[in-house]
Amino acid sequence: MNKIRAAITGVGANLPDYILTNDELSRMVDTTDEWIMTRIGIKERRIIKGQKGASEVGYKAVNQLFEKTNTSPDEVDMLVCATVTPDRQFPATGNIISDKCGIKNAFSFDLNAGCSGFLYALAIASKFVESGSHKKVVVVGAEKMSSIVDYTDRATCPIFGDGAGAVLLEPTTEDVGIIDSILQSDGVGNIHLHQKAGGSEKPASHETVDAREHFIYQEGQAVFKWAVSKMADVSVEIMQRNGLTSETLQWLVPHQANMRIIEATAQRMKLEKSKVMINIQKYGNTTAATLPLCLWEWEDQLKKGDNIILASFGAGFTWGSIYLKWAY
Ligand code: UT7
Repeated sequence: MNKIRAAITGVGANLPDYILTNDELSRMVDTTDEWIMTRIGIKERRIIKGQKGASEVGYKAVNQLFEKTNTSPDEVDMLVCATVTPDRQFPATGNIISDKCGIKNAFSFDLNAGCSGFLYALAIASKFVESGSHKKVVVVGAEKMSSIVDYTDRATCPIFGDGAGAVLLEPTTEDVGIIDSILQSDGVGNIHLHQKAGGSEKPASHETVDAREHFIYQEGQAVFKWAVSKMADVSVEIMQRNGLTSETLQWLVPHQANMRIIEATAQRMKLEKSKVMINIQKYGNTTAATLPLCLWEWEDQLKKGDNIILASFGAGFTWGSIYLKWAY
């Protein structure tokens, strides 16, 4: 009998309605549309308004996934939510999403791997499907990055946006699905990209709020240097060890952090731009949601058997790549 693989059999997404443009940002901080477009490549991003958490976009993405795939919530046996902006410290946002979607026969949990959260979650979930123990698994990346962005810091506030994307994983014995993955991390990244307060080391206090320590702290240049080399390294490595070339690879799905990082990765892979999914200009960096948002947007163009590489880099540092064959 053929090996059981985990295949993506559907994609859903949700984006909040509010559009934060570069023009609006340039009225909030000392920046310009030209700087943001040249240095990052973002034109606008979506923002969740009101007292709603990441689960707001997460559960809507999962509900859309259910509608598109004719899946009943009862059939789901596992849900993994990748996020760095959970609704609350606990319980897990995955549990909240499952509750909002009526998923009662599954175990749900959160996974925090920065911008590589969705990639890690997909790789982990695929093992449950491959083992035969789980048959319908939801992997959702959901973020409300606007809740931790300092809108007085011009170096970070243009980058991030809110949104969610979700995929359904099911077993297959056909020659499709997730074939290979490389997952890596290095704690050296902690100093360059983190949130200073609000965790167990430094709980929230008047002082931490006054010092603006609940926002993203990022040393952009250091993160950029790591991202540009590591995301390309793992993309080239997974290509080579699976015998893929720029001709036989149909799509690269890169994390959407900075257009220059995406272009450098594609260049190292010798891939023409038409094979690279890029929507950073519309949504910015939605952290754990960038990869499924790309799959969702390009779904109509994907063909069964297409060779696809997903690649990411984020806080931790965490990075990795997945090679899969599209299943439908
Ligand atoms: O997804 C998680 C992983 N994160 C990433 O991958 C992010 C990686 N890093 C980056 O994408 C880039 O480093 C940034 C987009 C964050 C910054 O771009 P940069 O080209 O590295 O700019 P920089 O920080 O070196 O700053 C260059 C100049 C500075 O001015 P001076 O010191 O040269 O006078 C900044 O103050 O640009 C200035 N600057 C801005 N100017 C206008 C920084 N932010 C802005 C801004 N508008 N928004």
